[in-house]
Amino acid sequence: MATPDMETTARGMVAPGKGLLAADESFPTIEKRFKGIGLESTEKTRAAYREMLFSTPGLGEAISGVILFDETIKQKGADGTALIDLLKRQGIIPGIKVDLGAKPLAGFPGEKITEGLDGLRARLNDYRGLGARFTKWRAVITIGAGIPTRTCIEANAHALARYAALSQEAGLVPIVEPEVLMDGDHTIERHYEVSEATFKNVFQALFEHRIVLEQMVLKPNMVLSGKECPQQAGVQQVAEATVRCLRRCVPAAVPGIAFLSGGQSDVAATQHLNAMNQIGALPWQLSFSYGRALQAPSLQAWKGQSANVQAGQQALAHRARCNSAARSGQYTDQLENRWHAA
Ligand code: 13P
Repeated sequence: MATPDMETTARGMVAPGKGLLAADESFPTIEKRFKGIGLESTEKTRAAYREMLFSTPGLGEAISGVILFDETIKQKGADGTALIDLLKRQGIIPGIKVDLGAKPLAGFPGEKITEGLDGLRARLNDYRGLGARFTKWRAVITIGAGIPTRTCIEANAHALARYAALSQEAGLVPIVEPEVLMDGDHTIERHYEVSEATFKNVFQALFEHRIVLEQMVLKPNMVLSGKECPQQAGVQQVAEATVRCLRRCVPAAVPGIAFLSGGQSDVAATQHLNAMNQIGALPWQLSFSYGRALQAPSLQAWKGQSANVQAGQQALAHRARCNSAARSGQYTDQLENRWHAA
């Protein structure tokens, strides 16, 4: 079977009614998540967890693609089936995180730059051989006193563009992820201002590096109040600010935007996506690419025990269904509570 071209893949990733599951936690991040349920992070427990997620019955109805971590794309489940094959069986497109993490930006205290460009061309070819069809690179922008600096935004935009160019060269759709963190006590207005500056810089860099916009997906933060801000913006305000910001920054040639959840609660992430899709008349698909907001209830239900596999899968399927409904603005409290009542 011929591999679909990048434009077809990009459109499939943001297909209506579906979204992406980010399951690409690095070793330190998955260790932190497992600590929350008192589980040690080992090669075996990580494989068991991801096997539980990927073999969720019906997952492909609400999940278009899964972002994997380097270890996972080469890993097998308990019965010897490659984890990537569990996804393909469900018609889910496999992708891979290719950055090597956000590290301190030398000379700029409190700011970060994402590493991983050296040797990336060879790694991309390897991942393509392993079956990946898209890639992800996350840039982190922090809001604080006197930050972000222009230097930090530009350095991260440049790295995102270099990565995206190499990814398209390898025939892999790049997910371009600029995340302006919600950590801090900043207002939603400040988050808007920094997000707009960041996204504009990113698209300028993508243009300069000759990225084909039809063959990529943007994964941005939503525009929110800082976690510690005493004045928390409501669902409608978040939806309107986020849509306004994206309309001003993201060309209509981009097929879709898939938000990260970034530390929002699972229900808040769904409510925000739903309210944005209710605004309507948008030039791109507005979708999700959640990590924590899809996995948290599932991880809690599973607790690392094989007896709880079904409960973990049901929790994931429920969140996936709720977000699927939010893709068309059809998410309701009744849909949310149907699960909790069950
Ligand atoms: P969260 O949705 O938990 O923010 O994770 C998404 C992701 O892929 C971060 O890179």
